[in-house]
Amino acid sequence: MLSVSGLKKVYQVDAGEIEAVRNLTFDIDAGELVCIVGPSGAGKTTLLKCISGLLAPTAGTVTLAGKQVTEPPKAMAVVFQEYGRSLFPWMTVRDNVELPLKNQRVPRAERETLVNEALAAVELGHVPDSYPWQLSGGMQQRVAIARAVAYRPQVLLMDEPFAAVDAQTRADLEDLIRSIWKKLGVTILFVTHDIDESVYLGQRVIVLSNSPTVVQEDLAIDLPDERDQLSTRSSARFGELRGHVYEQIQLAKSKAQTGAVRVK
Ligand SMILES: Nc1ncnc2c1ncn2[C@@H]1O[C@H](COP(=O)(O)OP(=O)(O)O)[C@@H](O)[C@H]1O
Ligand SMILES: [Mg+2]
Repeated sequence: MLSVSGLKKVYQVDAGEIEAVRNLTFDIDAGELVCIVGPSGAGKTTLLKCISGLLAPTAGTVTLAGKQVTEPPKAMAVVFQEYGRSLFPWMTVRDNVELPLKNQRVPRAERETLVNEALAAVELGHVPDSYPWQLSGGMQQRVAIARAVAYRPQVLLMDEPFAAVDAQTRADLEDLIRSIWKKLGVTILFVTHDIDESVYLGQRVIVLSNSPTVVQEDLAIDLPDERDQLSTRSSARFGELRGHVYEQIQLAKSKAQTGAVRVK
């Protein structure tokens, strides 16, 4: 479904060049839920911008269903961390969710069905006429998710979408993502800096090194498909997996340090 090959991104800045992503290669099958975890500054947002066609890679390619991505593909939707800035405050919840469908000239009756289904999926069917600023942070992020889901993308990209909400809301939203994923069969690439979140959500976790970034490990998460916050997170296997991911990230850091010493 989605293929990233030899991806490299170097930013040109006044002081010279910043190599944000060195060399990333991985594939995601249709219907998979894959998490990418890496420390802050590892190039996760850069990677998602390249995948979604918002930013041109310096080298390497991104292909979606066999076609190279050179501009934002219609079959992709992105949910960003800053939901506050991604919703239009002067539009109701319903109008926010409907907007991309209008832009795609989806017929009115079909739009209404898609919007209602998406709002129901995120449990916001009762507030279609509210404005974003009347809602809590977690609810606003659910509107952003509904907007992405209503669009029926083949691939849903999420960039640390829950980093700005409180812990309880975050747990609810994580479960919401798994339930939407199961219901709609959409392919999800979920980026986070939170190791526990990556293990809890993913069928697979791709561990990134810190910048300049490479894939440190691609790990299958062999937890049962039915997950819940209490029993999954307290299971022995969950503890092993999160310990393993933690070790890999530490390893990536120490490698980077060794590299720095060698330069000196
Ligand atoms: N537009 C930009 N211009 C220059 N450097 C950037 C730009 N965006 C990100 N970077 C740099 O690239 C690196 C990776 O950033 P980013 O992709 O935002 O990482 P993450 O999302 O993992 O925190 C950082 O060193 C950051 O400072
Ligand atoms: Mg980021």
